[in-house]
Amino acid sequence: MFITFEGPEGAGKSTAIAAIAERLISRGENVCVTREPGSGDVGRQIREILLNGAQIPPETELFLFLADRANHVATVIRPALERKEIVLCDRYADSTFVYQALVRGIDPEFVATANRIATRGLEPTATFLLDLPAEVGLARLVDKDRMDQEPVEFHRRVRDGFLRLASENPARWHVVDANQSPGHIVGNILAWFEAKLNDSE
Ligand code: TYD
Repeated sequence: MFITFEGPEGAGKSTAIAAIAERLISRGENVCVTREPGSGDVGRQIREILLNGAQIPPETELFLFLADRANHVATVIRPALERKEIVLCDRYADSTFVYQALVRGIDPEFVATANRIATRGLEPTATFLLDLPAEVGLARLVDKDRMDQEPVEFHRRVRDGFLRLASENPARWHVVDANQSPGHIVGNILAWFEAKLNDSE
């Protein structure tokens, strides 16, 4: 099971993922928690350039996210899936499609193809969109990285982009209202896991 979590800034993905992982582990599952960008040594270096470096052209940004993803899939995600672990990944290819294609304006067909190459076609089993208004998410942030400092209009387009992807592929996407308490958010997502795991037992 390869599960990804997407959403605008400040949606509480990492808190939700940690709580879900804890619950799955206590149920006896083997879980791999990971994120993009920034897994492993190569990923950490790419993350530093992307989020804490100077302004860069959108195309440079695109190829750095893709470089990180190719390394992440090959060295972390695929090995964990081969060990039959449940992989919980904070952001994945959909983030590139939304931020770099739909919002930054790079050709969507090109970005979709590049994502397929970087991932060698690995698609998530399911994706949870933690959705909330851009202003609410931004107000929750304490430290702002390079992307977070974009104007609110940028973040509104990010939200719209994710909602569009979710509506286009409801079989994979599950939209969760991230404007609820963390307990409700986690409860919602865990209900899906319980159903899925009970089915496969
Ligand atoms: P991060 O601190 O991980 O943010 P968050 O906690 O909101 O996930 O920073 C990741 C930032 O990079 C976030 O603003 C989204 C952006 N991003 C892209 O623009 N393209 C991508 O492919 C990915 C993975 C992230």
